[in-house]
Amino acid sequence: MSNFEVIIYQKQNGIGYVTLNRPQALNAYNLQMRDELYQVLGAIRDDPEVKVAIFKGAGERAFCAGADLSEFLTAPSPVIARQVRWERDIWGVFLSMAKPLIAALHGYVLGSGLEIALCCDIRIASEDAQFGLPEVGLGIIPAAGGSQTLPRIVGRAKALEMLLTGRWIGAEEARRLKLVNHVMSRHDLLPVAEKLANKIAGCNPVAVACAKQAIIRGLDLSLEQGLELEAELGASLLT
Ligand code: COA
Repeated sequence: MSNFEVIIYQKQNGIGYVTLNRPQALNAYNLQMRDELYQVLGAIRDDPEVKVAIFKGAGERAFCAGADLSEFLTAPSPVIARQVRWERDIWGVFLSMAKPLIAALHGYVLGSGLEIALCCDIRIASEDAQFGLPEVGLGIIPAAGGSQTLPRIVGRAKALEMLLTGRWIGAEEARRLKLVNHVMSRHDLLPVAEKLANKIAGCNPVAVACAKQAIIRGLDLSLEQGLELEAELGASLLT
């Protein structure tokens, strides 16, 4: 897929590669990126050749330094902003994706950048990664699900600390908090992401989708309901 300005999308051997590509602005998430990302997510979802996707940032300094501050609060009107959000529910598409998503994170992972990472299933980071949610300091709150996804991963107290104080954390602390699964050198980041992706791409995609669903949906259920869900998904696989 081509013709994008701020995203590079490539696919190879069952893996979709999504690169946030505004390195001159530390890959800040702007309206153009939102629109292109929405199209790319649709492509990943609908393309049977793509079994798993890797999200990464272009350049040496950032995965994504958050929402583009030059567009900050510039939506034409709240009504239009809401309409656009409804028409392009990018976070809904992200979070309902049946295929596994891997975030390979380096440098600044701030605001929307962290929220994109939180929409992924497996996060790995290089040693230079720094994570933070600066929104409250800017007089807003996360708008891409971060207030819901972060506490589900790091727990209530740590999520509140990060969100309310805006404190950034480094890669090692992120690993201790289980915000990222693994930390490695910058050099190893993509190879490790590809190793994980290849492993997943080699499995039955229906089993992969069911396993992802069982864990993600199950976390919002009681154990009893979760076990029912697992049985249901397991039975659907057998047919
Ligand atoms: N939106 C738009 N542009 C951004 C940006 C953002 N969120 N973050 C960085 N940039 C741009 C800078 O304006 C600068 O552009 P320029 O070279 O044309 O001046 C370029 O990226 C490099 O950033 P710079 O600030 O010079 O790098 P730094 O190393 O001094 O600082 C940060 C890096 C991440 C600490 C700093 O850029 C920053 O605080 N960014 C904003 C983070 C933020 O609040 N995000 C919004 C969350 S809601």
